[in-house]
Amino acid sequence: MSTILVTGGAGYIGSHTCKALHAAGHTPVVYDNLSNGHRNAVRWGPFEQGDITDRDRLRDVLAAHRPEAVIHFAGLIEVGHSVRDPGSFWHANVVGTWKLLAAMRDAGVGRIVFSSTAAVYGIPDTVPIPEDAPTVPVNPYGDTKRAVETMLANHAAADGLRYAALRYFNAAGADPDGELGERHDPETHLVPLVLQVALGQRDEIAVFGNDYPTPDGTAVRDYVHVADLAAAHVAAVAHLDANEAPLVANLGTGTGYSVREIIETCRAVTGHAIPHRDAARRAGDPPQLVAAADRAKDALGWTPANSDLETIVASAWRWHSENPVP
Ligand SMILES: NC(=O)c1ccc[n+]([C@@H]2O[C@H](COP(=O)([O-])OP(=O)(O)OC[C@H]3O[C@@H](n4cnc5c(N)ncnc54)[C@H](O)[C@@H]3O)[C@@H](O)[C@H]2O)c1
Repeated sequence: MSTILVTGGAGYIGSHTCKALHAAGHTPVVYDNLSNGHRNAVRWGPFEQGDITDRDRLRDVLAAHRPEAVIHFAGLIEVGHSVRDPGSFWHANVVGTWKLLAAMRDAGVGRIVFSSTAAVYGIPDTVPIPEDAPTVPVNPYGDTKRAVETMLANHAAADGLRYAALRYFNAAGADPDGELGERHDPETHLVPLVLQVALGQRDEIAVFGNDYPTPDGTAVRDYVHVADLAAAHVAAVAHLDANEAPLVANLGTGTGYSVREIIETCRAVTGHAIPHRDAARRAGDPPQLVAAADRAKDALGWTPANSDLETIVASAWRWHSENPVP
């Protein structure tokens, strides 16, 4: 099969994708600066340490491994950080992708799968959100992802670059075999935060907003299992082998769960009480983000197989209880 360069492959979604690529017969070569990733999550192929903004290092790695395609996860991800320090996001996410594309062009690598996000939609008018909804991000993180989507479209038109931009909704859960999981520092994602309360590592979970126009007043999100995201990337690599046209696709389930429902499911799965505290809404948090998920199904034959909420929470609980934050 193929060699695939996986930038950010030491991180959460990237490491799960490397496992899935390896299981599908590919060789994933991880390129990561380990700023937020973990060396011991790189287990399914070679590791090359480097920064995504280092074009010379990228050129050397591409020449050494000669991948057929790149899956590009590397970048900064925390929305609050992007508000405080937008420059670092434009550098890592936009300049970094620009350097990557230049190095790919020099090396004759013409296929890329890019980690985009539901954050490109900002506060949507229509839910479930179709891919042709307006992209009006409400934070610098989303701005940088939208800019990269535009960059990819420009390169596709100019150089024939083949690309898939996959707009993930809320990645959650952990490897079904218990080998990998979510380890962000700081952690800002709801499921791991709630499970850290269950483990006694946090006193309570703050619920930001209880007066949204949703059934129980708390914000609704579309949670998709990280193993399902990984499978979509394997399918996207095959899609680019066979198709020249760009693919922009949501990766979500089409079903939303409220913050309260997440906490309730975590209580049921863990058997712990999980105290919570109601807090004010956070600026820029939409009431509901739920994907219209048909395009990924039609183009990639992708249906999330592990994304029912109990499976997500049970897999994450296994990971967090076996690998507690020190
Ligand atoms: N986690 C989610 O719910 C979610 C949702 C939508 C989109 N995304 C996107 O998916 C991708 C992966 O997210 P994740 O949750 O796995 O994040 P992560 O932080 O776990 O992984 C990102 C990886 O990129 C590496 N990295 C960061 N800056 C780098 C740089 N300058 N050079 C080289 N490597 C660098 C980090 O060390 C890390 O291993 C990101 O691009 C993110 O924006 C994530």
